[in-house]
Amino acid sequence: MKRNKQQFKLFSVLLIFLLLIVLGLNLFLVQTEPISISIIDDQLSQQGYSASEIQVIKDNLNVDQILELSTERYTKYAIESYLSPHFNELRDLGYSAQEAKDLSKLPIEILMMILKEDPNDQIIKLLHTDYFIISHLARYLQEIHRFPNEQLRTIVEKVNTDRDYDAYTHTLEVDFNQEFLLVNKYHSLLRSYVPPHLIQAKGCGKPTLIEEAVLAYNLMCEAITKEGIGLSQRSAYRSYSLQKSIYDNYLKYYSQAYTDTFAARAGFSEHQTGLAVDLSSTNKSFATFEETDAYTWLKENAYKYGFIIRYPQGKEDITGYKFEPWHYRYVGINIAKTITELGITLDEYWLWIQE
Ligand code: DAL
Ligand code: ZN
Repeated sequence: MKRNKQQFKLFSVLLIFLLLIVLGLNLFLVQTEPISISIIDDQLSQQGYSASEIQVIKDNLNVDQILELSTERYTKYAIESYLSPHFNELRDLGYSAQEAKDLSKLPIEILMMILKEDPNDQIIKLLHTDYFIISHLARYLQEIHRFPNEQLRTIVEKVNTDRDYDAYTHTLEVDFNQEFLLVNKYHSLLRSYVPPHLIQAKGCGKPTLIEEAVLAYNLMCEAITKEGIGLSQRSAYRSYSLQKSIYDNYLKYYSQAYTDTFAARAGFSEHQTGLAVDLSSTNKSFATFEETDAYTWLKENAYKYGFIIRYPQGKEDITGYKFEPWHYRYVGINIAKTITELGITLDEYWLWIQE
């Protein structure tokens, strides 16, 4: 009888123990299955992921990562970045999922630099600075280390316009594959470069420029003449050798550093492209062009014909030249409109569209 009682007790304990195990297992399963598989599939496919990509995601990512992806719009790199071995390391450093994804796409040497940076909030701020271009990151960081008190916005602008390099020493040849030609202290033309189709305009001083610029100039000339304002020009296309003699002549009177603030060295002048013209008024001296009706009209209207003021006031640090109210550059109506509306220089526009 006693034995039976003992057996019953043992049996009950075992039963309770078994029940507890089953209950625990259930709880565990419920907790580790917070989202239903079919919901994930639906959400990911709604974001644009293909069936095979969804399989890769489910096979490789943890639940948090899957949830993050399922709320994000599909991008080609999303999965690869989550699979990057550095993604989690970047997340641990405090970067958001988006930032970590962007950063893990970088070349490994830049990524290593970021992973070593301390504190990293400077980089996070940099990532959110207007006009930040990720491929310039190493150069931004170098500038930050060189000028720790400089504003990040200034650093970004400086690097985006190549001013972290030394003018005339770190130069590239002008890129003829671009939508427009950029000639400045960092992008030069060969001595032998002569633009195609140089022709003379019909009026307003008859400047010689490339054909497309002349057609636009003729229209601009017609419009300003209709307003009763006289417009002329002092200089348009200049060959390499003409630019050289102009620059060398200044050197007889001024230091090179000063000359560089208003005259381009040969090979570095827009005048060699046949796209730039120095305008003048018919009734005032060239030096006072800013005070003329012609200048007032051009400021409002030049962009409508595709011309921009190439060296604006207040942008001397970016263009490398003093304000030249007379120097107009033909870039086409669309670019001229954007540049004028944004109040930026051609150098800034060129770098911002590289992104
Ligand atoms: N004055 C401008 C910068 C030139 O010489 O091209
Ligand atoms: Zn000029």
